Amino acid sequence: MSEPPDDALTLASRPGLPADYLYLREAFPRERWTTGALHPTARRWLHMHGGFRAHQAEMGAMVEVWRADAIDAPTLHRTLIPALQQFLQHLDGHHRIESGHYFPALRRLEPRIAAGIELLDRDHDAIHAHIEAMVRTGRALHEAVAGGATDAGDRVERLAEVLDLAGPQLARHLDDEEDIVIPLIALRGDPLE
Ligand SMILES: [Fe+2]
Ligand SMILES: [Fe+2]
Repeated sequence: MSEPPDDALTLASRPGLPADYLYLREAFPRERWTTGALHPTARRWLHMHGGFRAHQAEMGAMVEVWRADAIDAPTLHRTLIPALQQFLQHLDGHHRIESGHYFPALRRLEPRIAAGIELLDRDHDAIHAHIEAMVRTGRALHEAVAGGATDAGDRVERLAEVLDLAGPQLARHLDDEEDIVIPLIALRGDPLE
């Protein structure tokens, strides 16, 4: 069972990992992550996270075009909904592999970072609530547009609010997870290989 969450460490408000969890990054700092010699699993991990960041920025840009009145809700819907579906599918799959396979293995590999891994696992629960909200508001937008409803703009606004809320939290999680996982794999190898 996980420890009860420490409020100072909740995803919505923490500014980064506490110093206790950063010893791995100190041993293998970010400046060294860019080399081609980085462990392939760590490289794939960073690539995957880069994809989430790019995808998120792309959806944010689509919403901004709509907010600037440059496109109407049905036009936004045509590009945003498929992008959202793909994003959520990838993110959910990534979290399942991490929480189900990598996190337990990394914890066994480096018991000293167990509390950090538990924190990342709790982040997934917090992000899951955002995923559900994105599914819900995305579906509501789709139904409004498909049904020719006149309030599609309101539905876009609801979805945009959810995206705005989820964005910084997901970004925080990606950064913090990297600060633990990338140096750990770089220094100790992939525990699932
Ligand atoms: Fe994660
Ligand atoms: Fe991740």
